[in-house]
Amino acid sequence: MPENDEKTRTGLSRRQMLTAGGASILATAATAATALPASAATTTSADASADGTPEQIHLTWGDDPARSVVVSWATPGQASGARVLIGQHQIPAEERPYTDGMNGETTYTYHARIRHLQPGTTYSYAVTADNDANAASPFSATFTTAPKGRAKFRFTSFGDLATPNTAWVLSYGQSAYAVGAVESFQPLFHLLNGDLCYADLNPMVQPEVWRDFGNNNQSSAAHRPWMPAPGNHEIEFNNGPQGFTSYLTRYTLPSNGLPQFEGRWYSFQVGSVLFVSLSADDVVYQDAGAFVAGPAALVPAASTGNEPIEPGTSFYINGYSSGEQTRWLEETLRDGRQDPSVDWIIVQMHQCPCSSSKIGNGSDAALRAAWVPLFDRYQVDLVLSGHDHDYERSFPTRGIDHNVGTVTATGATVDTWRPHPVTTVDSGTFDTSQGTVYLILGCGGTSANLDIYGLDTADGDTQARVFIAPNRPIPSATPGTYLRVGAQATEDAIWSAQRDTSTGYGIAVFDVDPGGRGDGQTSITVTQYHALGADPVNPTTGAKGAPTSDYTVFETFTLVRPRNDAQGHQDSQGD
Ligand SMILES: [Fe+2]
Repeated sequence: MPENDEKTRTGLSRRQMLTAGGASILATAATAATALPASAATTTSADASADGTPEQIHLTWGDDPARSVVVSWATPGQASGARVLIGQHQIPAEERPYTDGMNGETTYTYHARIRHLQPGTTYSYAVTADNDANAASPFSATFTTAPKGRAKFRFTSFGDLATPNTAWVLSYGQSAYAVGAVESFQPLFHLLNGDLCYADLNPMVQPEVWRDFGNNNQSSAAHRPWMPAPGNHEIEFNNGPQGFTSYLTRYTLPSNGLPQFEGRWYSFQVGSVLFVSLSADDVVYQDAGAFVAGPAALVPAASTGNEPIEPGTSFYINGYSSGEQTRWLEETLRDGRQDPSVDWIIVQMHQCPCSSSKIGNGSDAALRAAWVPLFDRYQVDLVLSGHDHDYERSFPTRGIDHNVGTVTATGATVDTWRPHPVTTVDSGTFDTSQGTVYLILGCGGTSANLDIYGLDTADGDTQARVFIAPNRPIPSATPGTYLRVGAQATEDAIWSAQRDTSTGYGIAVFDVDPGGRGDGQTSITVTQYHALGADPVNPTTGAKGAPTSDYTVFETFTLVRPRNDAQGHQDSQGD
């Protein structure tokens, strides 16, 4: 850890003293950023016996990270007068409840949008309600808004976090240390690349899993925005048209301008970086959402009124936006590349265009075919994924090598849409105007490390498994039960540059340097820190490990590209 806890606490205390007043803040409740029905904009009445004590407190960016932040939280019961206190202002929260379609429990969430903030400024805030058990001393924390214009900043990322409560399927103690790792690096914000808590794998206690997730994250996410992307494990039976109700209810995310699809995908700009967060389940072949393997049906609580879900049922949402997301993506990338204030475009999504995990999911040809040509056309610099619980980095790629895959079952040649590396020299510095770098960061905190990678034993090349068709449920050898097959093809993974075989756990730290006007060059230094010894069982060595707070450097590399304002210098701030 680069900073210990004491330093962190000291730093926050110091900043808290700097934040009283000075900014003009208008008090407004968050407008509904999802298509979910919202109750009254401000809560004024609730059962007097209800517990409105805020918990699971977390921040997200508003539409302009230099000016707006959203504070979100949940309460054990319905809150009365839920609000954020900031400076001399009280900002009423929008109440957004939902009833879980499996166990019938109602969760109350609250969202307060704080607008008209000053860029690059640290603010203190508190969260409370009339029926807050801590009303005399409500929860308080600080956050810092994004800088305006070209400026240095740091962000961090991983996916596949789970919770520290090992009573839940796929939860593991590393998820607590992972949250601590984010805090230790003090990023401006964190990107959480999908598969947040695996509530769908614990279908009768989904709200309880989400609660443990939210309370685990609070120690970081209440201090800096955590920006999520939905993964396959956010797809839950009986929770909305894509199963995202639990996810969408808890997060207020920047608007994508499409009321039917708010919260699923979005973009925001910090400094000279355009961040684009996508919902890859819309385009992947792989069926990996909620699934009933059998032999028993999955029976929702009677109070839900929902029917039993029969064995062999999976919640497959491929194509759910009917192309709307891809159209939005192309427009967003095109506008971003034409914007003189944008140098970098970084995409966040859950599933993997380039993963060679041998025991994980692997890559997906439909995802590649849908979006990699757009990443190429608009020079996306970096794509961050999760899904496979390991760390892998590609060389920069541009273009597609067609018809270079092999169907595993038949040996036939197949098109896996393999991204073409523009270099296979691992120089440590890559010009991403020439090719897109793909990172797999599914290294958050689950109990299932997937850090063993494919190898073609015939020629010694690295090898990736690739989905080339949907893998809908089929009957297994056991009567009454069903399975979903793994990726159906392989390819030589000539795009793969680095794979961490020592642990499946880590965190990526990104330091953006806008560069100077003189050389017209900007850079991002990326350092992958990993948690050695955290694998429950390391698949390469067989060593048995345990969760650890000790994150050390695995590798550092640098991305460079020309500044987009090299001629005009439109933006004078932050140089
Ligand atoms: Fe996943």
